[in-house]
Amino acid sequence: MINIAVLVSGGGTNLQALIDAQQAGKIENGRIALVVSSNPQAYAIERAAQAGIPSAVLRRREYSSAETYSEALDALLQQQEIGLVVLAGFMTVLPDSFCRRYENRIINVHPSLIPSFCGEGYYGLRVHEAALAKGVKVTGATVHFVSEVVDGGAIIAQKAVQVEDGDTPERLQKRVMAEAEWLLLPQAVSDFCAGRLSVQGTWVARK
Ligand code: GAR
Repeated sequence: MINIAVLVSGGGTNLQALIDAQQAGKIENGRIALVVSSNPQAYAIERAAQAGIPSAVLRRREYSSAETYSEALDALLQQQEIGLVVLAGFMTVLPDSFCRRYENRIINVHPSLIPSFCGEGYYGLRVHEAALAKGVKVTGATVHFVSEVVDGGAIIAQKAVQVEDGDTPERLQKRVMAEAEWLLLPQAVSDFCAGRLSVQGTWVARK
């Protein structure tokens, strides 16, 4: 059984999708053991409490550097013997040392088809604002392993979502979540825990 930590900063709808998948028995070989929030106001903390999952708050501003922040995070993860870290709307960039230590054991969900609309500065609604500003007709979501390059790690799965006339960033965000993120992330976590993902360089195959 793999202990999973889910890192969050906001509403936590992706955390909810993972909780729902777990409760439906769809993550056979893993269990969400810990939720860590960078934001004490995050509604995700409430979702964890309702599911009986322990949570902790780690605020970036209470640490002098990204290194000391990630050391505190690592200590928490080690206490709980975490084998998979899931970034589910986690808005703090983790330092290279942390990414290397957890190489191929951190999964992130990003609300676009990488390599479009990703990297530094592209997060949350901003991603959908950029997609609408560019006028793309198709966008989507990506789940990928986290490397030292922001949004640059090996891609696990992607799903396309249509942009519709009159979309606002909020409407598009909701559709990308409902049609792509909430499906892709639990599937990737389930596959990881069951040992179904094999990584060769930048290529991830599903066994
Ligand atoms: C999600 O759309 C997620 O893909 C995005 O933030 C939102 C969090 O929503 N993540 C990023 O932009 C990371 N670069 P949630 O808190 O409801 O899951």
